[in-house]
Amino acid sequence: MARPLDRAACIDDLRVMARQRIPRFAFDLVDGGAESERNMRRNVEAFEDIELTPRYMVDVSQIDTRATLFGQTYNAPFGMAPIGMLNAFWPGADLILARLCKRENIPYVASSAASTTLEALAEAADGNGMFQLYVSGDDSVTEGLISRAEAAGYTTMFITADVPAAGKRDRDIRNQLAVPFRFTPEVIAQCAMHPRWALTSLRCGTPNVANYADLLQSATSYAKVQKTLITPGFTWDDLRKLRNRWKGKLLVKGILHPEDAKRCAELGCDGIVVSNHGGRQVAFGPSTVAVLPGIAEAVSGKMTVIVDSGIRRGADLLRARALGADFALAGRALAFGVGAGGAAGAARAMDILKLELVRALGQLGVPAMADVGPEHLVTAVSRNRP
Ligand SMILES: Cc1cc2nc3c(=O)[nH]c(=O)nc-3n(C[C@H](O)[C@H](O)[C@H](O)COP(=O)(O)O)c2cc1C
Repeated sequence: MARPLDRAACIDDLRVMARQRIPRFAFDLVDGGAESERNMRRNVEAFEDIELTPRYMVDVSQIDTRATLFGQTYNAPFGMAPIGMLNAFWPGADLILARLCKRENIPYVASSAASTTLEALAEAADGNGMFQLYVSGDDSVTEGLISRAEAAGYTTMFITADVPAAGKRDRDIRNQLAVPFRFTPEVIAQCAMHPRWALTSLRCGTPNVANYADLLQSATSYAKVQKTLITPGFTWDDLRKLRNRWKGKLLVKGILHPEDAKRCAELGCDGIVVSNHGGRQVAFGPSTVAVLPGIAEAVSGKMTVIVDSGIRRGADLLRARALGADFALAGRALAFGVGAGGAAGAARAMDILKLELVRALGQLGVPAMADVGPEHLVTAVSRNRP
């Protein structure tokens, strides 16, 4: 008999399995988006709507999915996006994903809001780790994190720019989400209905934002935790200083406007992530698919362009590249895998994306990922581009 995970045909199937295994308040923490969640849905739909035109009678018996980022060659053109507090979704999720990324040779981006320390994640990702920084309003907190990231051996840092104000996530408000969890009668009832999650969580201990453990000893509410991660006063001047401070590769994550992308390039950043935080920040914002071509055109050749928000299918990686991205990040896609079945579920999510990617390249008639380009967009074909 097929194991349940083998029956998951796509990432969305893993999401459904995760929803069954995880109490609602913890599932919603990852599955939810800002306000009406229109932006979150738009992300996925916008990728689905991008049409690529297959070419046939091309030898696709050998498919090469590799992609290069900052001189390092990875087995697939995507990495794991930084996700804070993921151990609340499934205990041990951070380390499961960092190890998976190492094994599969794809990048793992450790969130500064992770529930595992950046040092432990650097060790688990073993050379495939990159660090994501939330700039704090307190310079000494920011400096502390940067020094620790350097000491842990990270050579690539993402600065997240798209949280000048906290995203309003209606599901979390309805669930009265608090970090550490508050064991209200409703939370206890939800845990009782998901005993496996509850017992594993008990064994692993209450998750928290591990990198800020000292700072947050007295903080009990999610709002207080969030406050240290949100910097309304973060400006281009601060970015300039951080560019001078960080000697490794520096990327800005959360860019949605071509002029902002150009400014990052002018300041000497090595790349950007075209991202809307997976639709968790602004419900009124554009999908990344809508803005990616304009941004890529503005900075192409000057810096690396990565895209995220809405990647659910292997074919989305082709679409991302056709629209001008050099590389992609997947957030919920791999997270849902962990939620569906721990380490085995994460591996299943990875397999699904890889198999879909190989199949899509074969069907497009392009044996190597590196050869996908704007000429494959149906819009280019209808304009008769070669
Ligand atoms: C639960 C959750 C937590 C996140 N935490 C962070 C974070 O700590 N830092 C960050 O830069 N982005 C964070 N993100 C955004 C992701 O890095 C990424 O941009 C997003 O998940 C991509 O969209 P996708 O989930 O549709 O793939 C988070 C996303 C989710 C779903």
